[in-house]
Parts: sequence; structure tokens; C-alpha cells
Amino acid sequence: MLKDFFCKGEKTRWLCIMMFFTLGTLIFISYNLNFLRTSSVSTQSYNNMTTSAGSVSTADNSASQYFVAYPHPYRFIIDQPDRCWQESPFLVLMIPVAPHNIKARDVIRNTWGKEAAVLGRVVSHYFLLGLSQEGNGTELFEEHVLEESQRHQDIIQSTFVDSYSNLTIKTMVMFEWLSSHCPNSVYAMKVDSDMFLNVHKLVDMLLKAPRHLYMTGLVARGAAVLRDSTSKWFLPDSVFPESRYPPYALGMGYVFSLDLSKKILGASVHVKAVYIEDVYVGLCMRHLGIALTDPPHDGLFRIQMPYWHSNCFWSSVITTLLADSNQLSDVWEVYQATESGC
Ligand SMILES: *[C@@H]1O[C@H](CO)[C@@H](O)[C@H](O)[C@H]1NC(C)=O
Ligand SMILES: *[C@@H]1O[C@H](CO)[C@@H](O)[C@H](O)[C@H]1NC(C)=O
Ligand SMILES: *[C@@H]1O[C@H](CO)[C@@H](O)[C@H](O)[C@H]1NC(C)=O
Repeated sequence: MLKDFFCKGEKTRWLCIMMFFTLGTLIFISYNLNFLRTSSVSTQSYNNMTTSAGSVSTADNSASQYFVAYPHPYRFIIDQPDRCWQESPFLVLMIPVAPHNIKARDVIRNTWGKEAAVLGRVVSHYFLLGLSQEGNGTELFEEHVLEESQRHQDIIQSTFVDSYSNLTIKTMVMFEWLSSHCPNSVYAMKVDSDMFLNVHKLVDMLLKAPRHLYMTGLVARGAAVLRDSTSKWFLPDSVFPESRYPPYALGMGYVFSLDLSKKILGASVHVKAVYIEDVYVGLCMRHLGIALTDPPHDGLFRIQMPYWHSNCFWSSVITTLLADSNQLSDVWEVYQATESGC
């Protein structure tokens, strides 16, 4: 219909086709850049100064809601004190998940969480929980979590309240746990529970990667600070006056060499903890003067699967965001069935 309206007559036909093609390309490009939340993607040089977020006074009450209580001596109330150093995995997968989300944990245990030996390397996973919010924080519920932990030996629970605004605390507690429990491991990945993960492809990449001061994932460079107060990731000028963030790896899935855990914890003493978890890790990295590494090629870490994809897509990516855990079960079947033929 639209084509008929615009494209009557031989003379204009080619012009029309070109126009539709260009329009399509533009839509495609803007769609793909959208995740960086910025219109101009620039590479930024690194510097070693303490971020301005580190120098804001806590007396400023309007700003304090954008900071979280870290560092702070949180405790592990459910733990696996010996498992990681005994098994000495090459790669530890750390999955932040809400306490009530038992379903997501079970799906992961039956899909990529099952991959315990890959290319001759040991891989293990742990779920990271805070205290469940009121309503679910009953003794009965906590007992269920404890039973689940005894059954699967893969749950770690700490004493902060598990909420979206406390995700930075969860991530920092993850670095604490890794640095004190996994002395013999080389890499860890923080990966969200609604992600597809191709562990084979990930280990394959890591076998060729640096083993020290290394962090990779989908690295956002020159991402704009969101100043619209209704945005999910809003930060006011008073908290972070720079207009762009330093490079950071998007929080849904990033990989790092384990020597970084201690370094990032060290930096966190100097960089005030903002509630945006992945940005905060990026601020700590800048403080340390350590650059993030892009993956060896594009498309390994993805924000979403392309609308049109073949069954071999799952063998070609390391990780991508999915709609939910149900989708993970379906996708995993496709991946398993097609992997050897791709
Ligand atoms: C960078 O920051 C670290 C930690 O604060 C400090 O020890 C180091 O001397 C700094 N390096 C430079 C080049 O300023
Ligand atoms: C409590 O748990 C249920 C699932 O068991 C969940 O749907 C609900 O969102 C939870 N409520 C809070 C406040 O976390
Ligand atoms: C975590 O989040 C909840 C609600 O979002 C808040 O009440 C609590 O004080 C936060 N901090 C800690 C350390 O639990």
C-alpha cells in the first residue's frame, strides 16, 4: 500500500527502492545503538583521578538516595565456605537472583548451570541472594531457601535487603566472596538469571585471554548520564557532574580475571558507591587506571537476539538477554540439538 502510494511509475521506482532501503538501515542502526543510551559513541581515554562521585558529601540528603551502604560488613548467612577452593574451578559463574525466584534458579541448573566440565576445565556456578523483602521474608520462606541450598550447594546469601536499588551492594559482596573463597580460580563472570550463556564459547575465548587485570563484556563507551528524573537510571548532577560515564561493561554479563576482585574492593574505599551497579564497577576500574577489553569480535555479547536468526545463532554467541527463564529452556534445547552441526 505504502509502496503503491509512493512508487507509481517506472522513473521513480529505483528512487523508491533506495529510499526504503535507507530508511530500513537507519532504523536498524538506531535500534542497535539505543542500548548505549547515547547518540554519539566515542572512545574515551582513561584517567586515574578519583571520580567526582567520590567527593560528594553525605550531608547532601537529596543526593544520598543515589548512593548505597557500601563498604559495610555484611555477613554470609548461607554460604559454601569450602567448595570453591576445593574444586578450584577455572571459571566461576556468579548469578545475582531475587530470593523468591526459585524458578529461574532451577532453569539455570538444568541448562547452562549444568556445564561443569568444558574443554577440560572445571566451571561452577553460584546464586547470589540478599534478604528477601518483607512479605517473602518469613521464617518459612528462609527455610525453603536453606533446603534448596542444602540440596544444590550453590546458594550464597548475604544480609542486605535484596532490591533493585541494592544491586551495587550485591555486586560488591560478590567480589568479596570471590576474593575470599576462590583463591585457585582464574576467571569469574557476573551473569544475570535471564541470560542465555554458551559456556563452551566462553571458555574457548578465555583460554586465549589475558589472565590478569582483564575485564570484558559489552563495553559501553561514552554513554550519557541520564538526567531525566523519571529514567530508571537517573543520576543528578550533584551526584555525578560529568555528562558521560567512563567505559563500563553492561551489567547483564561481564567476565573478569579474579585478581580484579581485590583491586575493585580496594578502589571501592575511595569511590562512593552509586546505585547503578555496572557504572559503579566502571568507576572503580577508572580509579584503578585499568582499561576494559572489548571481546575478540562483535556479536559475542549481545543485548538481545536478532529478530531473524538461524538455529546456529546460539552457537555463535557467548551470551544474550532473553525475555525470561521459560525462553531459556526452549532456546537451550535448540542450542543442544544444533550445536554439533553449526
Ligand atoms: C592511580 O591511583 C592509585 C590508587 O589510588 C594510586 O596508587 C596510583 O599512584 C595512581 N597512579 C597514577 C599514575 O596517578
Ligand atoms: C514474593 O514472592 C512472590 C513469588 O513467590 C513474588 O511474585 C512477589 O513479587 C514477591 N514479593 C516481593 C515483595 O518480593
Ligand atoms: C536495600 O533496599 C531496601 C529497599 O529498596 C532499603 O530499605 C534498604 O535499606 C537497602 N539497604 C540495605 C543495606 O539493605
